[in-house]
Amino acid sequence: MKINNNLKILLIISGGIAAYKSLELIRILKKDNIKVQVVLTKGGAEFVTPLSVSALSEEKVYQKLFSLKNETEMGHIQLSRENDLILVAPASANIIAHAAAGIANDLATTILLAANKPILFAPSMNVEMWNNPITQKNVKFLKDNNYNFIGPEPGDLACGEEGDGRMSEPKTIYKYIGSMFKKKKLNINVLVTAGPTFEAIDPVRFIGNRSSGKQGIAIAKIFYELGANVTLILGPSSQKIPENIKVVNIETAYDMLEAVKKVNNIDVAICAAAVSDWAIKNPSKIKIKKNKKNIPKINFSLNPDILEYISNQKNNRPKLVIGFAAETNNLVNNAKEKLKSKKCDWIIANNVLEDPNIFGGENNSVTFITRDNIEPWDKCSKTDIAKKLCSKVIKEILDS
Ligand code: CTP
Repeated sequence: MKINNNLKILLIISGGIAAYKSLELIRILKKDNIKVQVVLTKGGAEFVTPLSVSALSEEKVYQKLFSLKNETEMGHIQLSRENDLILVAPASANIIAHAAAGIANDLATTILLAANKPILFAPSMNVEMWNNPITQKNVKFLKDNNYNFIGPEPGDLACGEEGDGRMSEPKTIYKYIGSMFKKKKLNINVLVTAGPTFEAIDPVRFIGNRSSGKQGIAIAKIFYELGANVTLILGPSSQKIPENIKVVNIETAYDMLEAVKKVNNIDVAICAAAVSDWAIKNPSKIKIKKNKKNIPKINFSLNPDILEYISNQKNNRPKLVIGFAAETNNLVNNAKEKLKSKKCDWIIANNVLEDPNIFGGENNSVTFITRDNIEPWDKCSKTDIAKKLCSKVIKEILDS
């Protein structure tokens, strides 16, 4: 298998007996003409020598954060910027904990914190360290924030114990990298709106809603991974967005509409955003001061409906327009009404009262509604909903 011409990987080797496998990994990557620059942590250098690493990678090996020579030649920021992937193999419990806590106290952890590229951890550790709830919590946090993990695999461990803890084999890691960087396949343009919108009351205050953007981001991510050309128009959200997805950050419903108008040739539009129905009429340009005798009254004006705008396009209507419906009651009837009034093709409806963790949570429980079909989907992760939706979209587009 040939992964990708010109791929550049920054390999961080942290402390662990599996570090010896990283030498084989470098050899495999180099055979595929992938440039591999290596950062060797203090722990990593206990297991492999800088000399063997640089002999195999044919590159200088980086070890210290505050090395003046390195900082002038190649700063830690630049090291992460000029590579396509940061691979931590082996990834010890310690480096995972540092990454999860945002601690940057050596070159490797500083690179991880400053990175704007995909990061892949290949953990290797004692089974109890891996199963420790603290490690599991760290891994979950990192996964939730779009860090990638491969392994660990079960088997005999160097410490004499048995269980999950072995670093994945170099060939397996290589294949996983291949799947991350595989060539684009799905030749469609997808627009996704996600997150809330914020409407200013004054420069300090706003009205918004509880949407985290997670469901829309998951959809954008799955389409991107399938090779689609994805534009994500995103309201204020703290979620980490995968590299390479085109993101337009907006704040208000009007900003969102303007951003949508700038996207051409959309094949599929998915409006997952929780757009505020109202804006504040004449928001104050300065902070409204508290006055015990005079409680401000807010006057609203109606915001544009973006889904409706897209559905009603005459010449440039996407082949498929998909809306969401957040309801608290009469789920199916309300959603069907929205499908009709907004002239979209499909609606994904959910009852936001049924699951108290729906906002910002991992899972979602939705009903998929078309003009002549109502399909309740089993409760599952937002990623699985995204996958299910993507496969329906692809089928629909390819069949049309
Ligand atoms: N939507 C939109 N622009 C708006 C309001 C909603 O694009 N100004 C889209 C949402 O992205 C979603 C669908 O319309 O795909 C339904 O949104 P929802 O908030 O459930 O419904 P509303 O139309 O706002 O109606 P209501 O608040 O009365 O339920």
